[in-house]
Amino acid sequence: MRNAVDASLETRGDVTVTWTAGAAHVEVSVLDEGHGIADASNLFVPFFTTKPQGTGIGLALSRQIAELHQGTLSLENRGDRAGARARLRLPLRPA
Ligand SMILES: Nc1ncnc2c1ncn2[C@@H]1O[C@H](COP(=O)(O)OP(=O)(O)O)[C@@H](O)[C@H]1O
Ligand SMILES: [Mg+2]
Repeated sequence: MRNAVDASLETRGDVTVTWTAGAAHVEVSVLDEGHGIADASNLFVPFFTTKPQGTGIGLALSRQIAELHQGTLSLENRGDRAGARARLRLPLRPA
């Protein structure tokens, strides 16, 4: 959420949160209208940041927490417009 707000503030864009729930998984997406991701290679590397006051902790730690719950966290550019989508997928009944 914070990353999406940071990104959308640069363009005065919106942030949208959506979710879908199936029988076995819930998927939460945070969509922004920022500039999107230029280079995806280091996003989840601890301490990687492009922000002057950034820590580079958020994505790495959030992915680690998601995976410890048998889930996933991904970040990619939106196909339909400028901006990025962070997608958190979690099983509803973890093993
Ligand atoms: N929604 C986004 N749009 C564009 N770039 C993003 C987005 N979210 C994360 N990033 C990129 O990934 C980097 C790492 O994010 P994060 O781990 O949350 O650390 P921080 O927010 O402290 O920089 C950011 O500095 C930024 O370059
Ligand atoms: Mg962050």
